Amino acid sequence: MSSGSFASTRVVRPAHGFRGSLIVPGDKSISHRYAMLAGLAVGTSRITNFSTGADPHSSLACMESLGATVKTVGPVIEVTGTAGSFSQPKSDLDCGNSGSTMRMLAGLVAAQQGTFTFVGDASLTVRPMQRIRGPLEQMGARIDLTEGHAPMIVHGSELTAIDFETPIASAQVKTAVLFAGLQAKGTTSIAEAVRTRDHSEHALRAFGATLERNDGRLVIEGGQKLNAIDLTVPGDMSSAAFFLCAALLFEDSNLVLDGLGMNPTRATLLDVITAMGGVIKVLDVQEKHGEMMGTIQVNCGRTLKGIEISGSLTAQLIDELPVIAAIAPYTDTGVKIRDAKELRVKESDRIALVVKNLRAMGAEVTEHEDGMDIPGGQTLCGGVIDSGLDHRIAMAFSIAALRAEGETEIHGAEAASISFPEFFTYLDELAIR
Ligand code: S3P
Repeated sequence: MSSGSFASTRVVRPAHGFRGSLIVPGDKSISHRYAMLAGLAVGTSRITNFSTGADPHSSLACMESLGATVKTVGPVIEVTGTAGSFSQPKSDLDCGNSGSTMRMLAGLVAAQQGTFTFVGDASLTVRPMQRIRGPLEQMGARIDLTEGHAPMIVHGSELTAIDFETPIASAQVKTAVLFAGLQAKGTTSIAEAVRTRDHSEHALRAFGATLERNDGRLVIEGGQKLNAIDLTVPGDMSSAAFFLCAALLFEDSNLVLDGLGMNPTRATLLDVITAMGGVIKVLDVQEKHGEMMGTIQVNCGRTLKGIEISGSLTAQLIDELPVIAAIAPYTDTGVKIRDAKELRVKESDRIALVVKNLRAMGAEVTEHEDGMDIPGGQTLCGGVIDSGLDHRIAMAFSIAALRAEGETEIHGAEAASISFPEFFTYLDELAIR
């Protein structure tokens, strides 16, 4: 997305504390999956605490274009599915800023009769789509890309199962193959080099599909029908991450997060918060449709400690790395991030933008092709932040700004609404000034 013109700038003032409690809004990843599977299922699903972010609403709009009915009834989203058979959309499927919508939905439509054209905004239009084209074409679909990215045309077809090894750690690619495998002829199996978030596996089972894990491979039988259900989306850990990191910045901070999704494939951040010196108490945990959710309390420790993040840890923290990097200068020994090349092809080049914005706040940082080194013990000053219209960059640097000397201007702050429209309201409520 162009970062040349900004519709909205937010000024974030320093704080001297961070306290309060919050019910965390619905998880973006899970909302996408529930929207898509409800749209394929037989009957009407009722989804509570659906993400308020723009991205999952792009998925809902695409499902409507494919023949599902979507109604908002108070706090519930009702989706009446297409009973396994999509209609030909009258216009392009507009995925907005959402790579999850484009990649995962490609897996669903690949097995359907018809031709489906996917478009997105300027940021999504340059993101790599070859990663889903490979396996979906192996299964029998045909996909036209424009120099490896959108606009993307999926020519649906009867699919045949494959045995697939994911070449990159990507839950979106795994999901595209699972969603295609659900409708293919035969048994599809997937081996992941690094285990990624498993919301699709839980969601498929919740809607009635059978899915197994044999010798480390995910195995799904084709030709299965899904049935509508009532669901509650747990709170988004990747949104909570901003406030968890804020709580690390102040003595006497106290944050209680309720309804927080704690799926183990997403909760690595809690280990990182602990390793950085935070004190976490789990006050309650329950399970719904395979997803863990609960209440946690977080307090700041005596020292904000540095950390090194590489290998599979990087993949598990991929969405949280911008905010960890943004608070890194305040740690004692600094933060090193490696094996994070994927950050360069997110909603923005998140390595380049984190480095640029840390420098804009006066920090020393060394950029690497696959990560960065940020020394600890630094003082930041208020600066002008370029979000690149990337939601996680806008929010990450709003957190760094809380301990800076002077005010920070966040250009393109409105990008936060892609995943967390309530972010600035909650930030003002929790930050003590
Ligand atoms: C997501 C998977 C990750 C993540 C994205 C959401 C998902 O992307 O960065 O925000 O919902 O499956 P990749 O699959 O590209 O790693």
